[in-house]
Amino acid sequence: MPLVTTKEMFKKAYEGGYAVGAFNVNNMEIVQGITEAAAELKAPLILQVSAGARKYANHTYLTKLVEAAVIETGLPIALHLDHGADFEICKSCIDGGFTSVMIDGSHYDFEENIALTKKVVEYAHAHGVTVEGELGKLAGVEDDVNVSDEDSCYTNPDEVEEFVTKTGVDSLAIAIGTSHGAYKFKPGQDPKIRIDILEEVERRLPGFPIVLHGASSVPQEFVKLINQYGGNMPDAIGIPESELRKAAQKAVCKINIDSDLRLAMTASVREYFAAHPDHFDPRQYLSPARSAIKEMVKHKIVDVLGCDGKA
Ligand code: G3H
Ligand code: 13P
Ligand code: ZN
Repeated sequence: MPLVTTKEMFKKAYEGGYAVGAFNVNNMEIVQGITEAAAELKAPLILQVSAGARKYANHTYLTKLVEAAVIETGLPIALHLDHGADFEICKSCIDGGFTSVMIDGSHYDFEENIALTKKVVEYAHAHGVTVEGELGKLAGVEDDVNVSDEDSCYTNPDEVEEFVTKTGVDSLAIAIGTSHGAYKFKPGQDPKIRIDILEEVERRLPGFPIVLHGASSVPQEFVKLINQYGGNMPDAIGIPESELRKAAQKAVCKINIDSDLRLAMTASVREYFAAHPDHFDPRQYLSPARSAIKEMVKHKIVDVLGCDGKA
């Protein structure tokens, strides 16, 4: 099976009351860890690439790694641009074999966001590629842009119909309380997502796929392991996975996870070197790191997304 768009995936996810995981990829071990997990659990998959990942690993290397994963697993996999900042990067990814792109116009005002998103949709649809837009701003760090808590804002449900109709997007990312990165909330806080906003968006856009960014939960055991083995990460927590599970049962069809994979991988590498300070063969420390990613993704597929067996 070749790479797929998100169209069919989201239709099935919406009807089936689950979400598809969109995991960020930056190198071979990450691609392998994620796709081995999805293959074992027969889960559909979105592998997403940020501008930073393209700069780090190169567009061709990443697309070829993902194509290799399709050959190895036979899974329906969409290759998606995460947080496309302008028309040019979206066009470059569409021309370069991606099957889905996000145009993130959330930092612009409403009319500018519509104009930019519409331009990307026209080009993408002419090339058989699906498009994700965004309304509302998440707090946290994304691609070197830091959005403070004060600048973040929930999606206004009054705007979603007009945005979707005028732009023609295939899915919409909304801000309902999740945030990017590993420093989301302080321990003791009680982070929740605004299910009421999600339900109102769903009422205005029946059957339309919604996307949640910033959905890592910052599992405490990994932060503890990192700090136990020489790290210095501040204590932080994310939205509980049970909350995300509820969203996945509603209109949310795509859930973005990156930071939790980074935590799992980093904890594994630190733990490895604490036990084997004399080792220097990358295969030795990257094998358990790849397995740590695989275990994290299996857990997300079963306990958060509910997409096991849906490929
Ligand atoms: O939302 C951002 C993603 O976690 C990608 O992060 O821009 O550091 O690759 P990155
Ligand atoms: P996290 O930082 O919570 O993993 O979010 C990732 C994301 O939204 C990528 O677009
Ligand atoms: Zn994001």
